[in-house]
Amino acid sequence: THIEWDLEAASKGGYEYFMEKEIFEQPEVLIKTLNSRVDENYNINFDDAGLTKEYLEGINDIYIVACGTAYHAGLVGKYIIEKKTRIRVDVDIASEFRYRNPVINDNALVIVLSQSGETLDTLEAMKEAKRHGARVVAITNVVGSSIAREADHVIYTWAGPEIAVASTKAYTTQMVILYLMAIDFAYKFGKITKDEATENIKKLYEVEQSIQKMLEYNEKIKDVADKIKDNESMFYLGRGLDYVIAVEGALKSKEISYIHSEAFASGELKHGTIALITDGVPVVVNVTQSDLFEKSVSNIKEVTSRGAYVIAIAKEGNTVVEEVADEVFYIPNVEDDYAGFPTIVIHQLLAYYLSKLKGNDVDKPRNLAKSVTVE
Ligand code: G6P
Repeated sequence: THIEWDLEAASKGGYEYFMEKEIFEQPEVLIKTLNSRVDENYNINFDDAGLTKEYLEGINDIYIVACGTAYHAGLVGKYIIEKKTRIRVDVDIASEFRYRNPVINDNALVIVLSQSGETLDTLEAMKEAKRHGARVVAITNVVGSSIAREADHVIYTWAGPEIAVASTKAYTTQMVILYLMAIDFAYKFGKITKDEATENIKKLYEVEQSIQKMLEYNEKIKDVADKIKDNESMFYLGRGLDYVIAVEGALKSKEISYIHSEAFASGELKHGTIALITDGVPVVVNVTQSDLFEKSVSNIKEVTSRGAYVIAIAKEGNTVVEEVADEVFYIPNVEDDYAGFPTIVIHQLLAYYLSKLKGNDVDKPRNLAKSVTVE
């Protein structure tokens, strides 16, 4: 695999900030990443990454290890791989994994995720996994990076250069690879037929359009950001897939807007978080998962009754959410498992505008580095 990064791609191309450009590039790079692994007959090819049927039948555990946004992509990976394959997946923060003498053996598959391929903790966690005899597959965006060189196998994301410190397109392309793994493994384990695998892959391709639609919300998101930008803290809530996406949404917001932003599983509200909900506190609630819809609507009521300003993200047609939330962004009516893609785009744009309206340096937030090569 060879990825060419030209000068034009590395410039802002008319956008004010790299982050905005990178958010808008997502439809294109998602397709590129899909095309790197899917052929015209909807076959997924991970054989060069050692993920053959024979190998997969011999594994008993999957570990995903990463830092920051890549770790959050790993949380989504756990969700979808477990759901499709029924194999247990552990997700670990690299700086924890490397020091806690993890329980792994040579039947474990360890997937490390790193946009830059240079994060020291992830690199060291990978070496630790190898010392335990595990096979390591790296998902990275940079050809020839340290992590790419040290891994047993490499799968590249095709995000192109990501310049803004806050990761956007690297995260969604990592999600794409993890979804392809979930579908591929499920097929190889006999959990789904070839036709079902094809259906799933087509839905991944359709993610492009759903993201495109979210980009049209630009102006409305800016208006909402303007209303909440002076708050000191805000919260993100969700259940299931909605929760793991909320975790990344909160990170985007805190790292560039400097508003204290935390995500909580909605079910945990009553175990502490609700004490923090006071008049006017913005709460972003993801309500895209059909089986959890009623419960999530109840959670919205719980926070609005304490004065929260609720910004909900729901599926098109679920207009009942308008009765309980202050603002609603509708994502297209995609199947639940794919709702995370358009949802995160709303979070990314909200964080972007919060940062910009506050006059922060969107691409270079204080105290943060794009790639952390020291401990
Ligand atoms: C830094 C960056 C984050 C990134 C994390 C992991 O903290 O600011 O955007 O998610 O490192 O980086 P990696 O290159 O390993 O994905």
